[in-house]
Amino acid sequence: MQSMENEKQHIGEEKQHIGQLFDRIAGTYDGLNHLLSLNIDKRWRRKAVGKLAEVRDQKSEISLLDVAIGTADLTIELLQQNKAAHVTGIDLSRQMMAIGQKKVAQHGYSDKVRFDYGSAQQMPYADESFDTVTCAYGVRNFANMDEGLSEMYRVLRPGGELMILEFSYPTNPLIRWGYDLYFTHILPFVGNLFSRDKGAYSYLNRSVKNFPYGEAFCEHLRAAGFTQIKATTLTFGISTVYKAEK
Ligand SMILES: C[S@@+](CC[C@H](N)C(=O)[O-])C[C@H]1O[C@@H](n2cnc3c(N)ncnc32)[C@H](O)[C@@H]1O
Repeated sequence: MQSMENEKQHIGEEKQHIGQLFDRIAGTYDGLNHLLSLNIDKRWRRKAVGKLAEVRDQKSEISLLDVAIGTADLTIELLQQNKAAHVTGIDLSRQMMAIGQKKVAQHGYSDKVRFDYGSAQQMPYADESFDTVTCAYGVRNFANMDEGLSEMYRVLRPGGELMILEFSYPTNPLIRWGYDLYFTHILPFVGNLFSRDKGAYSYLNRSVKNFPYGEAFCEHLRAAGFTQIKATTLTFGISTVYKAEK
C-alpha cells in the first residue's frame, strides 16, 4: 500500500518537473531543434519511421502510439508515410502538445491524431492495444526508463513493432570531440539564450550524456521483454534508431 502511495507521489512529482520544463521551452523547441541540428533531425525521423514495416507497407488502419509526442514531428512523419494510420500521442507537457495540435491541424491530420496528457510510466491504455509504438527523443527524459519501456511492451500487441529514436555517442574521436563541445557548451548557451530558460538546455545536455546507448540500451529493451532488437546508428552515431518486436 505504502509503495503504491510512494509511486503515485513519485509520478506526480515527475509530471510537475518534466512537464514544466518542456512547457517552458515549448515555444522555442521546434525552431531551436531544426537550427541546432541544421535540419538533420527531420531526416533522422524520416529514416526512423521508414524502418517500421507496417507503416512502410501502407497497411491500412494501423493504430500507432507515439510516446512523448511533444510537438508532433514524429507523428506528422508517421502520417506522411502512411496516411491510413491513426496515432495516439501521450506527453507530460501540455504546451508541447498544444503546438503539436496546431501543426497536426495545419497538415490536415486533426482527425487522425489524439493527444493525451499523461506519463509514459503509467499509461491509461489497455494491454495490447496498439499495432506499433514509437518514441523519439523521449526515453532519456523518463524519470524511470525501465518502467516506461515495460509500459510500451504492455500496450503493444504481440508481433507489433517498437521504434525508439534517441541521441547516442559517436565513436570517431574527432566527431566525439565536436559532439562534446556542442552538447556541453554550444547547445546550453544558444538554448538558454533563445528560450530564456537557464536550466532547461543544461538539463538536456546532462540527459544526453547520462543516457545508455547502443548495446547498453538494447539490454534494457531485452529486459522489458522485446525481441528482434536492432540498433542502427545515424550520422556518425549522433542518433540511433532502435527497432524491436513483441
Ligand atoms: C525532446 S522532446 C521530444 C518530442 C518529440 N517526440 C520529438 O520528436 O520532437 C521530449 C518530450 O518528452 C516528454 N516527456 C518526458 N518525460 C515523459 C514521460 N515520462 N511521459 C510522457 N512524456 C514525457 C516531454 O514533455 C517532451 O515533450
